[in-house]
Amino acid sequence: MFALTSRRVLRRVATFVGLVLLLGSVTGPAGPMTAAATSARGAPTITKVPWGTVGGQPVDLYTLTNTKGMTVKITNYGGIIQSIDVPDRRGRRANVALGFDNLDDYVTSSPYFGCITGRYANRIANGRFTLDGVTYQLAQNNGVNHLHGGNVGFDKRVWAARTAKRRDSVALVLTYTSPAGEENYPGTLTTKVTYTLTDRNEIRMDYHATTDAATIVNLTNHTYFNLAGEGSGTIEDHVLELEARRYTPVDATLIPTGEIAPVARTPFDFTRPTAIGQRIRDAHPQIVIGQGYDHNFVLDRRPEDESLKLAARVSEPRGGRVLEILTTEPGIQFYSGNFLDGTLVGTSGRVYRQTDGFALETQHYPDSPNQPNFPSTVLRPGEEYETTTIYRFSAGHR
Ligand code: BGC
Repeated sequence: MFALTSRRVLRRVATFVGLVLLLGSVTGPAGPMTAAATSARGAPTITKVPWGTVGGQPVDLYTLTNTKGMTVKITNYGGIIQSIDVPDRRGRRANVALGFDNLDDYVTSSPYFGCITGRYANRIANGRFTLDGVTYQLAQNNGVNHLHGGNVGFDKRVWAARTAKRRDSVALVLTYTSPAGEENYPGTLTTKVTYTLTDRNEIRMDYHATTDAATIVNLTNHTYFNLAGEGSGTIEDHVLELEARRYTPVDATLIPTGEIAPVARTPFDFTRPTAIGQRIRDAHPQIVIGQGYDHNFVLDRRPEDESLKLAARVSEPRGGRVLEILTTEPGIQFYSGNFLDGTLVGTSGRVYRQTDGFALETQHYPDSPNQPNFPSTVLRPGEEYETTTIYRFSAGHR
């Protein structure tokens, strides 16, 4: 996965050049704010307001606005995307990301709304893995398993933030150094996640990490979407297409069995556009285990292919909003919001119930450290973890 193939080196060089251009205008938190906020009309902007404190650390809410009618709010607590305002086919704007209107609810009650999950997104069986002959016991914070980095994962950390601005995009650069032994993971992990809002109505996420000792890493963003607007009801009418002819079935605790199974003739076949709700009540044993969809799909690509490719396309028939997800990752977790149970009140004051939002988390497969036939998630000193995912929004016509 992190081998220095020539393809990978080329991609790194290209990314490096892009990053230098992007970061050309970066300074500390105070500097670019003024410049961005007062930038000429017609240029994208980025501003921030204080949003409270966590453990005595100040937290801010950043507002990224492009010139095409899109506004994204991101907090440096957990790198959470708090809201995504996008127009529908008639130009009406709505917030398509589930979340809360205040920091406290994120701290106390969030089911990973919008956050960066790490060090290891999704589950590790029994919270245990062995690397170079040493066995590590992680927190078992989801039944017997480890989920989304443990008790205090990257979603609950306050990240350092700086901003960057280009002619046609604005970016929030978040960094966090996870000390060796944090949540019992080996190695100091130096992590950077860059969120860029472009004038093509894309949120681009560039993930980068290095380590000083062998470790495992799997980072993603955990936004729950409702393309009709958060709080507007079920996403069962949303039409989903996945570039995946195979998926990884799970056991009763949602750990992959190790099998890589074809989706053909199952409710997991989204190779053609299909409404999410069409087969969500099918008695297929995997749907029963997940209480809906909660599965990793194996993206159609050769194992060594790390190019940025379309992975998923979701459209909402009434307003016509479309979300396309492109990624360099080999897998995507499709989660149909099965555990939303009406106990959380969202951003606009409406209660979230089962299937009121869906997540599509680009990632390496769950439990990879214990599954020898899955692509590796091991990162060693001298290697660079580097992945990119793009959420691209548009509005289709009837
Ligand atoms: C997992 C679900 C979990 C959800 C929220 C998803 O990535 O696959 O099982 O309930 O995150 O934690």
